[in-house]
Amino acid sequence: MSTEESIYGDQLPRLEEVRQQLVRKVQEVRDEMIREKGFDPVEHCLSRIKSEESMREKCRRKGFPETTESALEKIYDAVGIRVVCSFLSDVYVIRDHLASMPGVTVMEEKDYIRHAKPNGYRSFHMILRVNGSVYAEIQLRTISQDTWAALEHQMKYKKNLNGNTELIVGELKRCADELASTDVSMQTIRDMIVSSDS
Ligand code: GTP
Ligand code: MG
Repeated sequence: MSTEESIYGDQLPRLEEVRQQLVRKVQEVRDEMIREKGFDPVEHCLSRIKSEESMREKCRRKGFPETTESALEKIYDAVGIRVVCSFLSDVYVIRDHLASMPGVTVMEEKDYIRHAKPNGYRSFHMILRVNGSVYAEIQLRTISQDTWAALEHQMKYKKNLNGNTELIVGELKRCADELASTDVSMQTIRDMIVSSDS
């Protein structure tokens, strides 16, 4: 395959269609919950098709040839959706709606909320196969989890931590745990507001 050609071959429109389908579904769930319960479960939703450059880099890193077949069948995040939710319970509500869409099969789920990564990272990850062909990676997280992940991501690329790496890693972990505890408190407050409402 020539290097000028897209790694996605002629499949970009199909990826784009799936991206839009998933984003539309998230929007539908939001509209429905605002109508029926009076609150928006989602703070914001981002989506992307992985860039040509990052897809090629990921193929190389994983030892796959830089082909359309690798990009679509060996790597599962050509389509990526990140849903940042207001509350913990909303993460699972959105998860259920996406998982039960017609034409969607859940290939893998990683609940890094119930089982945080050792560094403190929390999110709910799903790999979906959509329309029997296209994989999509869904990341669902709360606002606090998203804030933490963004900061931790920045630090990862800072090589020169003045010999403080261990301290920084430990402090980041502590922040993640404090945020997680606050998420639980916020959920409790929300549940109290909702139940006194009815
Ligand atoms: P891939 O080969 O990249 O698919 O790895 P994996 O299947 O082991 O990935 P996993 O589901 O654990 O994570 C996929 C994505 O979640 C990453 O590309 C990041 O966007 C995000 N992620 C996972 N772990 C961390 C973390 O410790 N910190 C941050 N900031 N993001 C993370
Ligand atoms: Mg993955």
